[in-house]
Amino acid sequence: MDDLRNKWLAEIAAASDEATLEDVRVRAVGKKGEVSLRMRELGRMSPEERQEAGPRLNALKGEITSALAARRSALEDAALDERLRAEWLDVTLPARHRRAGSIHPVSQVTEEVTAIFADMGFAVAEGPQIETDWHNFDALNIPWHHSSREEMDTFYMARGEGDDRPPHVLRTHTSPVQIRHMLENGAPCRIIAPGRVYRADYDQTHTPMFHQVEGLAVDRAISMANLKWVLEEFFTAYFGTKVRTRFRASHFPFTEPSAEVDIQCSWEGGSLRVGEGSGWLEVLGSGMVHPKVLQAGGIDSAEWQGFAFGMGIDRIAMLKYGIPDLRAFFDSDLRWLRHYGFSALAVPELAGGV
Ligand code: DAH
Repeated sequence: MDDLRNKWLAEIAAASDEATLEDVRVRAVGKKGEVSLRMRELGRMSPEERQEAGPRLNALKGEITSALAARRSALEDAALDERLRAEWLDVTLPARHRRAGSIHPVSQVTEEVTAIFADMGFAVAEGPQIETDWHNFDALNIPWHHSSREEMDTFYMARGEGDDRPPHVLRTHTSPVQIRHMLENGAPCRIIAPGRVYRADYDQTHTPMFHQVEGLAVDRAISMANLKWVLEEFFTAYFGTKVRTRFRASHFPFTEPSAEVDIQCSWEGGSLRVGEGSGWLEVLGSGMVHPKVLQAGGIDSAEWQGFAFGMGIDRIAMLKYGIPDLRAFFDSDLRWLRHYGFSALAVPELAGGV
């Protein structure tokens, strides 16, 4: 009995991991373990022998079982200690440097414009960049012979062979969103429509893809005065300083009367400052929506009238943030993006407090 006891306690003490310990348990006190087999032999003994061996075997089994448990918990403690040692880390080490991306000026300015107009009750509307020539031209009262319809300016999509329908175009302005919005929602309405537009043009101030924001307000008694107030309020908030506007008579097929709008600026000392001085800078086209355009939008032009405007987002981004070359906007040069990009946390604010 002592040999048995010494042997198993030694094996338990020597087990260096939980799998080995389990193996020892099976071989000692498992169903077919050595101690269990001895206990089975008790049946064949005389009552006197059993009387003597039974309690001793039971005590031995108890001793082995508690030695197993003690060893198991010692191994678990050791494993935990080891893990704590391995997973230790020095939180005082400086963090690894990771470059954050930046928000493109076009996205930033679009957010700013949207926030300012939202404050004046304008919702955002959208339309497709591949547009029917009806929405892009006809519905806007742009006649067949108009210069902007020429292949020179407009990107036409190709039709399949034998398909004689007029081709779709890459929209040349955001004005077709006016038509779509009126057809879907009727009057009254107050929307802006920012988005990409396309024209075959390329130099320091023109790229084949650029961005515009359209404005449209339709109601029963809307006037040029409302248009002027809204635009001055917008530019003042956008540039964060009081900006006066100048309306010059102009012509667009989709407005009557039409005006080109300049904002007050100064070029003193060779740098451009908006909202100061006696210079003027053209920034957008606008006017009262032509009755034919209201009608194309399904709106009764005897009952409703409205104003509209269209301005270049890239252009007002260049003006506000002093970016000289439009082409660089779309080169995806990381140095340019890091220099002119915005932090994702620089949430646009209403600087002028509309
Ligand atoms: N669609 C014109 C352009 O692309 C801009 C424009 C002028 C939009 C007058 C308007 C407007 O809504 O009333 O040049």
